[in-house]
Amino acid sequence: MSFGQMPLANAFLNKKDFSSEYFYKLEPAFCEHCHTFQLTEQPNPRAMFHENYAFFSRTSNYMITHFQQFSHWVIERYLHNKQPFVMEIGSNDGILLENFAHQGIKHLGIEPSANVAEVARQHGVNTECQFFNDELAQQVQQQYGHADAILAANVMCHIPDLHSIGQAVSRLLTPKGVFIFEDPYLGDVLDKTAYDQIYDEHVYLFSAHAVTNIFKPYGLELINLQYQTTHGGSMRYVLARNKQYDIDSSVTKQLTYEQTQGLHKMATYEQFRKNCEHSRDTFTNTLYKKKQQGQQIAGYAATSKSTTVLNYCQIKSDLIDFISDTTAIKQGKFSPGMHIPIYPYETFKENYPDTAVLFAWNHKQEIMAKEAEFAQQGGQWLTHIDL
Ligand code: TYD
Repeated sequence: MSFGQMPLANAFLNKKDFSSEYFYKLEPAFCEHCHTFQLTEQPNPRAMFHENYAFFSRTSNYMITHFQQFSHWVIERYLHNKQPFVMEIGSNDGILLENFAHQGIKHLGIEPSANVAEVARQHGVNTECQFFNDELAQQVQQQYGHADAILAANVMCHIPDLHSIGQAVSRLLTPKGVFIFEDPYLGDVLDKTAYDQIYDEHVYLFSAHAVTNIFKPYGLELINLQYQTTHGGSMRYVLARNKQYDIDSSVTKQLTYEQTQGLHKMATYEQFRKNCEHSRDTFTNTLYKKKQQGQQIAGYAATSKSTTVLNYCQIKSDLIDFISDTTAIKQGKFSPGMHIPIYPYETFKENYPDTAVLFAWNHKQEIMAKEAEFAQQGGQWLTHIDL
């Protein structure tokens, strides 16, 4: 299916760069072989992850708590060696690894974007600024030894060459080591018609079926999984070398559930395409109606996801006047492709619009709690998803 010409989701830009903006065709497809839903064309990762990367994991308090709990869970369940070594792929600003660092656990974060890697170091997280692949894994093994846990959060779906990761993980893990990652769950994207999870950085949307198929050739099996509410519905997958652990009942349950939901069938994705088109038409009609009534409409949070929504629906600043966001690097710039101005959060707070489009719908609970006053003063929330 096609979402048309798309800019990079996090390429917030200045006016002077409008004419040289980069676009590619956002065209995902379902692979009947490995069961991933994946992009057919992905821009060069070096164009996405660099010294000015705009996504900092720490912007949400909910995520800070989530990663604290994640670290406790890993330590209790899987770190039974006396001096364990934990490695994270795509460690961003250190939001997860700092919890291991604070406990004096040997750790290493691999993060290709220099600006976020620097923030991680400031939080005491040992960080290498590199792309992770099998070559780097060999160096890590020589320097640090085998890993008891290799972690990744919202990162595996970013990496085009999963074969290199499979090889690297099977090279690096101790015999009882675990590879644990979480990512937006394909089942939720289909259920919620959350097509905004599809953008340049998300090459893959995984399911339990897909993860099983991808890592089988590397002697790794799925031993456990846990549903997470983060990022609008995610799955945490735990893999280990074959026959090292009992397979938890959660794995068989999820595989059966996916069969009943048709995640392995092309027809399901044909229906998803129709649902996306319907969602686009309904959402833009609602915005047009509100605009005809003379409403001021603002976007709440300039998320990566919003880039897909705005460009697919062709929503420009005649419909959404501005988007407010708490990230300094995005403020004063314009949204990729549709060039809606990004203002600091205070602009929203000091001058409520009639309607706020909640682009960070995955943080709804946290945002509704702190923005109760907006609705009390008559403000209306809108999303392209039924929440
Ligand atoms: P997220 O949904 O994690 O983004 P993405 O789609 O890029 O994965 O939201 C992060 C963005 O939302 C970030 O730019 C900061 C912004 N944000 C706010 O402006 N206010 C908020 O209350 C929250 C939670 C996020």
